[in-house]
Order: sequence, then C-alpha cells, then structure tokens
Amino acid sequence: MGHAAPSPNAKPSADDEAFAAAFANHAPQDIPFRRTIKSFVRRAGRTTLGQAKAFEELGPRFLLPYQPAAIDLGATFGGATPHPVVLEIGFGMGEATAHIAALLPETNFLCCEVHEPGVGALLKRIGEQHLQNIRICAHDAVEVLDHMLPEQSLDGIHIFFPDPWHKTKHNKRRLIQPALAAKLAAHLKAGGYLHCATDWQPYAEQMLDVLGAEPLLKNRAAASHPELAGYAPKPHYRPLTKFENRGLKLGHGVWDLVFERQ
Ligand SMILES: C[S@@+](CC[C@H](N)C(=O)[O-])C[C@H]1O[C@@H](n2cnc3c(N)ncnc32)[C@H](O)[C@@H]1O
Repeated sequence: MGHAAPSPNAKPSADDEAFAAAFANHAPQDIPFRRTIKSFVRRAGRTTLGQAKAFEELGPRFLLPYQPAAIDLGATFGGATPHPVVLEIGFGMGEATAHIAALLPETNFLCCEVHEPGVGALLKRIGEQHLQNIRICAHDAVEVLDHMLPEQSLDGIHIFFPDPWHKTKHNKRRLIQPALAAKLAAHLKAGGYLHCATDWQPYAEQMLDVLGAEPLLKNRAAASHPELAGYAPKPHYRPLTKFENRGLKLGHGVWDLVFERQ
C-alpha cells in the first residue's frame, strides 16, 4: 500500500473533526445506498491541519461533487481548448498523481479516492505545486463511471497499486474483474489507454488474464516487448513512489500493464 494505515486506536482530534465536517459538505446527501461488493473499506484516518486547511481553501475549486448524472468534462476543467482527460482510480495520498499532473500540464486528470485524508493530501499538493489540471471526486470510482462519465469520453485511465486483497476470501473485492474491465474499456475513446500497476504478483497475473480477455482491449506491450510476457516497461510518467522504492530495494517486483482500446 502506498501510504501508512491509520492506527485503529487513534482518537479523532479537533483537526479530524473539522476535516470530517468539511468533507461532509462535499459528500452526496441523497444518493440511496446500494449493497454491492466494494473494492474498499472506509477507514478512519488522521488528517493534518494542513490537509484540513487545503480542504477548506481549495475544495470549492478542485473538488467535483458526485452526482448521479453525466457531466460535461470540457466544462468541468474549463478552458477554451479541449485537453485529453485521464481518470485515476484510487490515488491514495496523491504522490504519483501530483507528479504526473505537473509533468503533463496539457492533460487533465479526474481523480477518484474515497480515503478522506488522501483527498486532503492531494488538495494540499495542488496548492503547493500550483497545479491547475486536477479535479478530485471523493467518491467510489465505479459509481462515477456508472453515472457521471459518458462512454468513450476518456483518453486514459490510471490504476496504480489498487488494494491487492491478498486473502482468497477477499479476492472478490479486487477492482480488476471482468465486469469492471468491460466498463473501463467502454469509457475509453478509441486509442485511449488503461495503465495498471501492482506489486502483488497474483494480482498482476489476474490483471493480465482479465484485461487480455476483454475484447475491446489490446495489450500495447505484447508486440513491442514480447520478452516481458504481456507486462509493459514502466511508462516514463509514472514516478517511483517512496513505497515502491522501498519494495524494490527489498527485492519485490512491480508489474505495469498498458492496454489500449481498439
Ligand atoms: C493501495 S492504495 C494505492 C494508492 C496509490 N495509487 C498509490 O500507489 O500509493 C489503493 C487506494 O484505492 C482507493 N480505492 C479503492 N477502491 C476505490 C474506488 N472504487 N474508488 C475510489 N478509490 C478507491 C483506496 O481508498 C486506496 O486509497
């Protein structure tokens, strides 16, 4: 996981409470709860004063409230010239997200995350790095895909180190499953790409099987890098995060997968 898990015994601080109150203003009030298997569990987490401040000051500009109706992506990001739009699912604390958004200022990033401190952390990075090309939807990305994003509207999708759900009885919670692969493919424009990365080999193998079986997707690396057996070299824009660097030093592997909508 790309960030530290909160201590289960931590008591909420005044900052946490201020943050939760601010977050609640952006949470949907009237969306009926549906009983489906989720790819996440909502964890309590400590937020810093800086994150709470970023939430308050930058939230109104950079948070996109969830709504159960299609949005106009051009209008969401503003600007006269339409730029490519990449959806990121589960950005954690936003380290890679901010790095990539700074590297690719001509691309717009719609970023979904359900972990509240992570949302605050990315807002803080947006402020510190003066990023203009990110909007955050603090909501389940699957519902965002289902209700807010039109099909064939995305130029790319990033899913970096999704929760591996190691135990067999939890594998059903993994994001990359055939139904989601079909949904992701349907939301990409022709030629748009899906980039996943994981450090858990059984999940990498599942991703390769599931994405390889989706008829709308073609593996970009299969022809160019046959020696990688379906995996891709790490694309230049994805940074090595602190967490990943630590893993690599310990000899752990990382697998990138890049598919394209045909
Ligand atoms: C293991 S973390 C990885 C975070 C980050 N991508 C990184 O590389 O450090 C996975 C993240 O995905 C988020 N997540 C899982 N399912 C999600 C969903 N359906 N919609 C939005 N975020 C989700 C979790 O809250 C968690 O923060």
